[in-house]
Amino acid sequence: DKAGHRHFMAKEIAEQPEVLSHALTYYLDPCDGRRQLEAELDFSGIDRIVMVACGTASLACFVSKYWFEQIAGLPVEVDIASEFRYREPPLNARTLALFVSQSGETADTLAALRYCRGRAGKIVSIVNAAESSIARESDLALPILAGPEIGVASTKAFSCQLVVLAAMALQAARQTGTIDAGEDSRLSGLLRQVPGQVSAALALAPRVQAVSAQLARHADVLFLGRGPFYPIALEGALKLKEISYIHAEGYAAGELKHGPIALIDEEMPVVVLAPSGPLFDKVLSNIQEVLARAGKVVLVSDAEGLAAAGEGLWQTIEMPAIEGPFAAIAYVVPMQQLAYHTAVEKGTDVDQPRNLAKSVTVE
Ligand code: M6R
Repeated sequence: DKAGHRHFMAKEIAEQPEVLSHALTYYLDPCDGRRQLEAELDFSGIDRIVMVACGTASLACFVSKYWFEQIAGLPVEVDIASEFRYREPPLNARTLALFVSQSGETADTLAALRYCRGRAGKIVSIVNAAESSIARESDLALPILAGPEIGVASTKAFSCQLVVLAAMALQAARQTGTIDAGEDSRLSGLLRQVPGQVSAALALAPRVQAVSAQLARHADVLFLGRGPFYPIALEGALKLKEISYIHAEGYAAGELKHGPIALIDEEMPVVVLAPSGPLFDKVLSNIQEVLARAGKVVLVSDAEGLAAAGEGLWQTIEMPAIEGPFAAIAYVVPMQQLAYHTAVEKGTDVDQPRNLAKSVTVE
């Protein structure tokens, strides 16, 4: 049931404020999820987290690396399951092995989990399908509570994975003592604001749709970001190529001059995710490098960032101003909508893109 939407993907994008609120209540308020985290996951004996996943789920891990490292002071390695499983990486009893999977059945992720059995201190999974193989074979399986996701392109599962990972990072910080009660309540308060920020981002759909109508005419698109916005840029590129079949690549903005800048000309749209804040000036200089080569910049930022960027931008998407480390979550929404509206504009099969399966149960 598409609940009045044209595609499952549109329905699943729209559902995000509701499912995110549900997941946050479960993991932040003193109910089941939080109790389970506190009782069954003790970060004090952990000195490293190894996160393993595929596709969009691996990008959720990548975003959370910034949180675990900055908030909880815990080193995080993020690995793609198909690489991890054959590399035979060293693990020990102080390593937490964390697997993220919407379906809980991805063959490579499951094989990576089995490799960790007997080698890592603890095996934890974050899944949408609670009855899945990955959930069953974990020491602790944490549900993301997104509800069924039908569209092949993952949307609400990604944002729910992000909030569960953020809640876990806060739990880790409490247990390792890197935050005090005041900082805990400040950060928890910021995390609770995410569903409202996602609602505000959803309201930008008409603007994003107008940008999509332009993007649909191009053969290649670059996505740039820094910090946690870098993996969100990767997700924007993945989503666009999956459903619109436009060639898209994501880069850390600082990598621009190490190669991709050679691609920039008047035919190359560059979507830049850059809220105002400490890294903004760095990204602005990357934007100027693109503009100097006649590249078409789509800047996704808040009012302050857009004002500072000045003239010469091709398109803009104005996000609300968002404080704190979890701002990247709301920036997922314009990435999802850009891909969705571009695909609709091109007339591709949004929910069942060619060559892709919802659950990749073979290598
Ligand atoms: O079910 P999983 O989360 O393990 O699936 C992982 C990837 O196959 C999945 O995220 C894929 O990249 C999506 N089609 C992305 O939209």
